[in-house]
Amino acid sequence: MMRALVVYESIYGNTQAVAKAVVGGLSTAMDVELIEVGAAPAIVGDVVDLLVVGGPTHAHGMSKPESRASAAGKAGDRLVSRGVGIREWLESVRVGSRPIAAAAFDTRIKGPELLWGSAAKAAEKELRRLGLRVVVPAGSFLIGGPTGPVFDRVLDGELERARSWGSALAAKVAAG
Ligand SMILES: Cc1cc2nc3c(=O)[nH]c(=O)nc-3n(C[C@H](O)[C@H](O)[C@H](O)COP(=O)(O)O)c2cc1C
Repeated sequence: MMRALVVYESIYGNTQAVAKAVVGGLSTAMDVELIEVGAAPAIVGDVVDLLVVGGPTHAHGMSKPESRASAAGKAGDRLVSRGVGIREWLESVRVGSRPIAAAAFDTRIKGPELLWGSAAKAAEKELRRLGLRVVVPAGSFLIGGPTGPVFDRVLDGELERARSWGSALAAKVAAG
């Protein structure tokens, strides 16, 4: 079976939940490994057929050390990603010579993308810069908005949509 690596960043846990749903979808046609970005490998070798990267949208794009610090301060016990974000990982990761398939997803606030931005769109640029083949449009999965001090609620139906995005992606890669 073809192999996928899913690397995710998450402060409050929403992107982690979405990543797990994406893995559920990918698993219908691929062997999948899910890794939090702080534990992700420095080199993605040719044994992987698909690289998927996901993270929360902060300030219209991928998080930065300052935005993560600000978010982490409100996350309490829920804090998932304690080190680098996908921005830093994508800047430093090395890939093999084979142009493997890739895709990006994010979580962001419900509303016009023009207004709220998308971390996945920014991540896609980095995937292309690395020479990978972005094979499906970025997936954005929506957060309902603040329910307290944090943006912490994946909208109803979004995990199902993430699973479908994953299964469609796996089918595409498996079909070559
Ligand atoms: C510092 C900060 C900046 C944010 N900026 C944006 C933004 O520009 N656009 C957006 O859609 N959501 C923004 N959000 C909301 C995040 O997208 C939301 O917290 C995230 O999707 C939750 O994912 P997580 O639970 O995995 O951390 C921001 C959140 C924080 C903490």
